Amino acid sequence: MRQGLFVSFEGIDGAGKSTHIEALADALRTAGRTVVLTREPGGTPLAEQIRTLALHQPMDGLTEALLMFAARRDHARQVIGPALAQGHVVLCDRFTDATFAYQGGGRGLDWNLLSKMELVALDGIAFEADSLHQNASPAAVLQPDLTLWFDLPPEVAAQRLAGTRVADKFEAQPAAFFEAVRAGYARRLAEAPARFARINADQPKEAVQAQVRAAVQARGWL
Ligand code: TMP
Repeated sequence: MRQGLFVSFEGIDGAGKSTHIEALADALRTAGRTVVLTREPGGTPLAEQIRTLALHQPMDGLTEALLMFAARRDHARQVIGPALAQGHVVLCDRFTDATFAYQGGGRGLDWNLLSKMELVALDGIAFEADSLHQNASPAAVLQPDLTLWFDLPPEVAAQRLAGTRVADKFEAQPAAFFEAVRAGYARRLAEAPARFARINADQPKEAVQAQVRAAVQARGWL
């Protein structure tokens, strides 16, 4: 059986990551892999309901984080863990780094508190997924094998988003919020540099796509 692979896509709103997920999925399918495309918050019926609440109802940062982790637990149990155990590739539009970046960086929640919440929320899931997975470590919390961080200045992202759709609660935040989110992602990268590939998203689509492909190829997965 092939090893499962878990790749997450991160970045501030307007970074353009969604268009690149499909392209990578196609490339991996062509290489013979079974690919599961999913997103957070969401990916299961329950988690999609939580998504609607978290993106549209006013609430404090801790409530947001609790909802994100509740959605993540359901998603990891029902979708990500089983797919990895079957040796599939999981491409996930956001994962735990988003909670550190948005609720930690953006909303100012304590980093250590988020780490504790992460351990509680994903308790019992890492082992199931990782037992057939690379770098198996029963004690470790479930993390992507690779996180592609689409990084660009918030003002460029805001220009891209302007007028494209009705903004949700996060998209409507001011530039300073996204600067703090971006700093949160940078901190996550500094804490786990081997897991991250920083993609310069302030480039033409083709150049971004080439960088994504190169990051995956560098790990021998394409
Ligand atoms: P999306 O629009 O990229 O699907 O992401 C949904 C929004 O939810 C986006 O603004 C980021 C935010 N979010 C958090 O604040 N915390 C999280 O843990 C996740 C997964 C998303």
